[in-house]
Amino acid sequence: MPNGVSLSLTGPMAGAGTNPAAGMALVGCGSALPAVSISNEELSRRVDTSDAWIRSRTGIGARRVCGPDEPLTVLASQAARRALEHAGWRPEDVDLILLATSSPDDLFGTAPRVQAALGATGAVAFDLTAACSGFLFALVTAGQYIASGAVRRAVVIGADQLSRWVDWDDRRTCVLFGDGAAAVAVEACAAADTGLLGFRMRSDGSRNACLTLAQTDSRAALLGELSTQKGGFAPIHMNGQEVYKFAVREVPAILQELLESTGVAPAQLDWLLLHQANQRILDAVAERFAVPAERVLSNLAHYGNTSAATIPLMLDEAVRDGRVLSGHLLASSGFGAGLSWGAALLRWQGPPG
Ligand code: UT7
Repeated sequence: MPNGVSLSLTGPMAGAGTNPAAGMALVGCGSALPAVSISNEELSRRVDTSDAWIRSRTGIGARRVCGPDEPLTVLASQAARRALEHAGWRPEDVDLILLATSSPDDLFGTAPRVQAALGATGAVAFDLTAACSGFLFALVTAGQYIASGAVRRAVVIGADQLSRWVDWDDRRTCVLFGDGAAAVAVEACAAADTGLLGFRMRSDGSRNACLTLAQTDSRAALLGELSTQKGGFAPIHMNGQEVYKFAVREVPAILQELLESTGVAPAQLDWLLLHQANQRILDAVAERFAVPAERVLSNLAHYGNTSAATIPLMLDEAVRDGRVLSGHLLASSGFGAGLSWGAALLRWQGPPG
């Protein structure tokens, strides 16, 4: 058992006994990416790296980056709008907008900007930060609002613009990350039809230093001797080997717990939908569960690690190209800074792309 806090739920959503509409169906998806793509080859003109190193160690071939006039709000709103269209909803139909991000346009919250851009006048909107686990945590959170009956329709967005926060001269981190946004539309359904069949979530702040985007230790004079902290963040800092070891240990373990508690065998899974951090991590998890490579979703080669966006971005791509079909069962896992990690057993119920 890791030194962390654990939360879990299995079977139909909590409250299923009292609220017949306690399930959450995944009924639409959408994504948005910046137009500019930077290949490994191009990046090697800026830092001392190579396409061969990046591909062999991570599986990444290119990443998208936002330009100076492309704020996160624009990407996140485009992704959410596409998810609404896919679900056949009007913006006024949405009760809740959850934006999972670690790179907001406004530390006070970017989700309200997305709400305004969508014209989702009836929705409450707020940000949720759990780094690369953020989308999974937000999806589960939306599930709880829906299970309680407080919310009927929600849009869960995973969006990050880590190009703002990487040190482009640090080859150990800058080659890994990319920008992107994606969203899933979820709505109340009968408990028996739920698309969130179980989940596990964990945090271990004692290992926080392994991966940070932390407030800098800078001060501003206030009055005489009195000073305050001045706002500002240092670029992403990561102990890659520690995070790698954490991922290949904890992700299979939490997925194993999830599968055991839901009574689902790996062979019953249609897809493994993991956070896209490193192809070697995807391969290790797949091998642990004997899931063949063709059932492991991966788009790392094109987009790198888009943090909170990776899972819905991958889902959207696979729904749109006809790999993920209505009724398919997916085991998903997010993991990263915090440290945080989680897993969810999902059933896709939306229309084809
Ligand atoms: O979403 C958040 C979760 N994050 C992750 O999951 C990241 C997990 N970690 C990883 O994926 C891997 O640790 C990395 C891909 C980040 C690094 O791979 P590694 O096999 O652990 O490499 P390393 O850090 O042990 O470095 C090996 C060598 C070092 O050189 P020396 O000291 O052996 O001479 C590094 O300086 O590779 C060097 N190196 C590079 N060389 C070329 C590190 N980065 C680069 C680079 N290009 N970009």
